[in-house]
Amino acid sequence: MSEPVRMRMAADGIAVLTLDNPPVNTLATPLRTALDAALRRCGADPAVRGIVLASAGRMFSAGAEMREFGKPRVPPLLRDVIELIETLGKPVVAALHGRALGGGLELALGCHARVAAPGTLLGLPEVKRGILPGGGGTQRLPRLVGAEAALRMIGGGEPVTAEAALEMGLVEAVAEGDPADAACRFLAAALAEGRPLPLARDRTAPHDPQALAASIAEVRKRARGQAAPQACAEAVRLATELPLEEGLARERALFQELVEGEQSRALRHLFFAEREAQKVAGLPADIAPPPVRRAAVIGAGTMGGGIAMCFANAGIPVTVIDMDAAALQRGLDRCAQNWQRTVQGGRLDQAEMDRRRALLSGSTDLAALAGADVVVEAVFEDMALKQRIFAEIDRLADTGALLASNTSTLDIDRMAAATARPGDVLGLHFFSPANVMKLLEIVRGKATSGMSLARGVALGGLLGKVPVVVGNCDGFVANRMTGRRGAQAERLLQEGALPQQVDATMTEFGYPMGPFAVGDLAGLDIGAAARRRRGAVFPVADALVAAGRLGQKTGRGYYRYAEGSRKAEPDPEVAALIAHVAAELGVPQRSHDATEIRERLILPMVNEGARVLEEGIAARASDIDVIFVHAFGWPAWRGGPMFWADGLGLATVRDRLAHYAALTGDETLQPAPLIQRLAAVGGSLLGGVPRAGETA
Ligand code: NAI
Repeated sequence: MSEPVRMRMAADGIAVLTLDNPPVNTLATPLRTALDAALRRCGADPAVRGIVLASAGRMFSAGAEMREFGKPRVPPLLRDVIELIETLGKPVVAALHGRALGGGLELALGCHARVAAPGTLLGLPEVKRGILPGGGGTQRLPRLVGAEAALRMIGGGEPVTAEAALEMGLVEAVAEGDPADAACRFLAAALAEGRPLPLARDRTAPHDPQALAASIAEVRKRARGQAAPQACAEAVRLATELPLEEGLARERALFQELVEGEQSRALRHLFFAEREAQKVAGLPADIAPPPVRRAAVIGAGTMGGGIAMCFANAGIPVTVIDMDAAALQRGLDRCAQNWQRTVQGGRLDQAEMDRRRALLSGSTDLAALAGADVVVEAVFEDMALKQRIFAEIDRLADTGALLASNTSTLDIDRMAAATARPGDVLGLHFFSPANVMKLLEIVRGKATSGMSLARGVALGGLLGKVPVVVGNCDGFVANRMTGRRGAQAERLLQEGALPQQVDATMTEFGYPMGPFAVGDLAGLDIGAAARRRRGAVFPVADALVAAGRLGQKTGRGYYRYAEGSRKAEPDPEVAALIAHVAAELGVPQRSHDATEIRERLILPMVNEGARVLEEGIAARASDIDVIFVHAFGWPAWRGGPMFWADGLGLATVRDRLAHYAALTGDETLQPAPLIQRLAAVGGSLLGGVPRAGETA
């Protein structure tokens, strides 16, 4: 193993310290220890006039080593190293490239100046892990760039580019060429000119107190219920009021509280779960999928258009094919409008939009799929049609092309059987809107080859998605589990709960929308058609559809919507309709408190999750959590349904499910065998059965 910090002397008495902790230079204990020692050596060496802090590899630093979280901390801590830089008596310049994130950026903030390579991303993503920058970032960044800009970065967690950082005053220079050489030139010039390089701690960027108060209020509102963004806002406010040392002490206290809390534990769980999900059981790690140079999408509807955008956004030429010329044009127009809106919102520039549009082409002829490395079928949800299409794809597609269906419910094996190459067939299940939602369920058919799965996972990464491999069953993981919630939501209405009451419980929990508001958004006829296919009957939902209440598109659904508005307003007509249906069914009416509503919506999903796990449809409980956070807006800070259930305790989960099964007479609510077995031995869904000597 190489040294985590190397030292060399450059010209003009400048020592270059190179951090080298592959693959991403996390600030792990050995690196901090070596850096501390190297800095002390430089401090003591009269030949050293200044220091450049650079990194080997593809980035400056991805930040703290997350595997050290929750363990006893070993000095020197990051804050000790930064204090050493600040008191060393010699100027230190950070040479940034690739990424400078989290603790990596905090280290740079402690330096006397920062020089970045073009395109470097600088950010403090801690908030996304449920914590705040605990290495002085919340106190130094506001002094450098102003409190509002600092709050945007710290509270939002999104990085800025080197170019934006230069404008903000976060870096002193952006320079081409080797970053360490550029920083040496910068430092040498400053030394030669006798130009002072004041530390962030000694600066006071101006801020507008009113604008800051407004930004803080905005964060508080947006992040209701979430501890980390609130603490970030508080810490930045303190930076404008307290001397540095006091501010640092308060930052540390806030950090400690967050890091010990349930929310950051949940978010860290998801961070590792996402990485774990990329590993497909039984696949060699060194399998190298061929590149994707061209794609074809069949069906230019709601999903096909969005999927095509994903390819074009990733720089891959894509042809959308629809047998209906008008539908094709509508689909292509919708893509263009979507991009246009992104340009108007300032999140995409015109040239980039033109480039993406140029990658998108359309055809009404299936033969246009020739030459594609990946073909994604997104036609109507109809097995006979899909089988016909797959037979055609088989006839027309290049040898070795990956053949995928975007079906949300249908059997991948039956589609694969319509081809002479079932090993190349899998499901690529995107979620609506496909160009926005991050989840990609990769459905493994019984004949799907390992290489096809590896290609699916790699493609997911290429398209900026979170790919998770799942087994083949009706609804796969996300829809199958959420379907259980749908049935209970319907049942709650029959018992006398109102849509607004049920939805409020879910938004309180942290979902962006409740199930009924989502239904209105998607269109109630869509759900009705899916139920018809399954032979399921939802009396209230069906009555709404029969009354022409199809959701937002008709201005009326579970709610009513004023002309042109998306704001859901409770509708007394709906209450009357529900009461009527309930009376006809003879369902006894009663009232429900928020706890019951929450449990009746979430526990059935957990229960189905346990079945999914036991059947091997999901490979790991943590995969289910990843799926939920990225498919339907499960609040990430609650860690996913499996994490949530473990937190509640499986004995409680079992007992509550049994209670609701008895209360409603619904046998699907009986606790799944896996939950019963684990509960009996004090196990958990994520951890399984406790090992000997371990207590739950
Ligand atoms: P859609 O009805 O909006 O679009 C289907 C398109 O396929 C239409 O433009 C139609 O003209 C075209 N089409 C039909 N037969 C064709 C043929 N023989 N050749 C070429 N094009 C043909 O449907 P949507 O919502 O986009 O769904 C497509 C698929 O994606 C379905 O399998 C659906 O289950 C699945 N899906 C839908 C989601 C949603 O939220 N809408 C989410 C995830 C998957």
